[in-house]
Amino acid sequence: MVGRTEALALLEKEVKEEKRVAHAQAVAALMVLLADLLNADPEEWYLTGLLHDIDLPETINHLEQHGIVAREKLRGLVPPEVIEAIMAHDPHTGIPATTTLAKALVFADNFINLQASVGQDLLKAAILNNEWRSLHERWPKKREQIALVQKYLSEWPVVIREMEQAGIL
Ligand SMILES: [Fe+2]
Ligand SMILES: [Fe+2]
Repeated sequence: MVGRTEALALLEKEVKEEKRVAHAQAVAALMVLLADLLNADPEEWYLTGLLHDIDLPETINHLEQHGIVAREKLRGLVPPEVIEAIMAHDPHTGIPATTTLAKALVFADNFINLQASVGQDLLKAAILNNEWRSLHERWPKKREQIALVQKYLSEWPVVIREMEQAGIL
């Protein structure tokens, strides 16, 4: 398994846009927190978050291949379960997220994207007050993202406080 420095170098080589690298780092940071809470391997989960969009420059117009093209790039560098989770993170592929790692990646990716769209304060208020209606009304196009975030937070309520304490929420 590659280390963090090597993984970041690999990501930066493939994904040149700073914004996408920053997104990957934010997802990776959240994955470490989730790994701690769900008794998983933080290094493995960090890499899953960091590398999940590594093929995006090539697949942005063919999202049904997003995560699948990554398999070839990551083979031998990360454990198979990391590749499986990455392959299942985007609904366009039709591959369901079945493992805890894959589900955590879906949650982390959608949370970070949603936070970037609606803003930290609005999302935090919705989560802490368990009041999602105004978010749904204001951001109708984000319905699926909101629903996913809501679903995983209700499955893992313990993460809410930890995310808040870590300043992620
Ligand atoms: Fe993605
Ligand atoms: Fe992503």
